Amino acid sequence: MTRDCERSSEVQSKKALFSRQTSKMAGKLLLCIIIALSCSGTLQEQYKLKKVLMLSRHNVRTPLGKDLEEITSKPWPKWKEQSGYLTAKGAMLEGYMGVFFSKWLNKQGMLPDKCPDEDVFYAYANVKQRTRESAKSFVENAFPGCNITVHSKYPALRDPVFYPIIHNDTESFKAAALQAMSERLSTVVYLNKSMIELESILDYESSDNCRTKKQCDLIEDKNVLNLDAGEKPGPVGPLKIGNSAVDAFNMQYYEGLPMEDIAWGAIKTQHQFTELQLIAKEFHNVCFNTSLIAKDISKYLVQYMKKVLLSETPKVTLMMGHDANIFTLQETLGFKPYVLPLQHEYTPVGGKIVFQKWYDADKDVDLLRIDYVYQSHEQLRNATKLGLNNPPQFFLMELKECPINSKGYCLWDDFVKLLNNV
Ligand SMILES: *[C@@H]1O[C@H](CO)[C@@H](O)[C@H](O)[C@H]1NC(C)=O
Ligand SMILES: *[C@@H]1O[C@H](CO)[C@@H](O)[C@H](O)[C@H]1NC(C)=O
Ligand SMILES: *[C@@H]1O[C@H](CO)[C@@H](O)[C@H](O)[C@H]1NC(C)=O
Ligand SMILES: *[C@@H]1O[C@H](CO)[C@@H](O)[C@H](O)[C@H]1NC(C)=O
Ligand SMILES: *[C@@H]1O[C@H](CO)[C@@H](O)[C@H](O)[C@H]1NC(C)=O
Repeated sequence: MTRDCERSSEVQSKKALFSRQTSKMAGKLLLCIIIALSCSGTLQEQYKLKKVLMLSRHNVRTPLGKDLEEITSKPWPKWKEQSGYLTAKGAMLEGYMGVFFSKWLNKQGMLPDKCPDEDVFYAYANVKQRTRESAKSFVENAFPGCNITVHSKYPALRDPVFYPIIHNDTESFKAAALQAMSERLSTVVYLNKSMIELESILDYESSDNCRTKKQCDLIEDKNVLNLDAGEKPGPVGPLKIGNSAVDAFNMQYYEGLPMEDIAWGAIKTQHQFTELQLIAKEFHNVCFNTSLIAKDISKYLVQYMKKVLLSETPKVTLMMGHDANIFTLQETLGFKPYVLPLQHEYTPVGGKIVFQKWYDADKDVDLLRIDYVYQSHEQLRNATKLGLNNPPQFFLMELKECPINSKGYCLWDDFVKLLNNV
């Protein structure tokens, strides 16, 4: 909506350039009226936003991989923050998201003039530093001076809503889930190019893994599947190594390191990033993208979201979690596959799946719209400030069981049916 309006006003103002000086003022006035009519007279009046739930991934953090030292003999760049923590830049970037969303929600009439209470805005983060601090930066910038509480189970070490572990401890589940995972793994056949590239970037032959563990070949070495109740599932081997390395390169890029320090200067094009990213995507696919596993892992997340979505209040909820939460939720609810423009990651840092409940007064019916709202890789790297005129990326998402109309909305009732069936 906003962007369409901006585009048409741009075209029109270019036309206006050619008009004579005298008619310029009148033209501008007319233009304003046209814009006001065409932009505010459509959706906003017909559809009214009633409720929002954002499931977010934390923003830029330091690399996680405990195995990073073993997969290359090259020195990794040093970070100021400890491993897995939100960086200062990550906090700033999430603050920009907070600023944007407060303006966007305000424009939709969702926020009061005073500080919102918890019936209006509720923030809930996982226990990890990076999720708590991301949420804190979001709310402090969205609502400066308002002292909004970020709820979390901290100092507990785990919160079942966000912690992506296997819950079902029966042998039959384990057997079926391992089978599903191994079928997933067998479909991962097109990573040769990415793996060859990665071996060369890491100089894998001179790594500890190769010299002491005799694991020297990212294509031929085996991925060993792990799946146990109480643990995160996943393969150990080349896919995991690849995921750790690619994640580290992504974070270096977002953090703004000079190109010669990202992957030791080996990544020269966006295409290389895209190609390497396939490894991370397939790693997550094997871990999380089978419905049996995704449903089990996201059990408490879905319960919580369902409760929030189906109650009157809070009007707006921010949930700050991890890529694993977004992956498993997508598989459980049956999102259609997608390709996000201007991003390499499938579930970008700081990205939010934004569930919106709209009311269509004409037809007296509630509607659902879901957008993936995220910063492009350039917006992250450049630390681009966000606002209504410089928004983050909005990408329309679709659920297989909630067919959308031409404007991107599906029936709220269909969504409720879906929620009640998972
Ligand atoms: C902020 O809120 C917390 C709890 O919600 C309260 O303990 C604290 O005193 C408040 N701080 C200010 C400055 O109002
Ligand atoms: C555990 O998995 C088994 C086999 O898939 C299933 O029959 C059972 O209902 C599951 N238990 C729970 C609590 O989900
Ligand atoms: C990938 O490389 C392996 C080993 O070099 C080879 O056996 C396999 O056929 C290749 N796969 C594809 C899809 O090229
Ligand atoms: C997850 O699996 C579904 C179907 O099994 C597939 O369509 C989708 O592309 C997968 N997700 C990713 C991230 O590849
Ligand atoms: C980011 O910075 C680069 C280099 O200064 C510039 O070319 C690009 O347009 C910027 N992109 C955004 C989205 O700000």
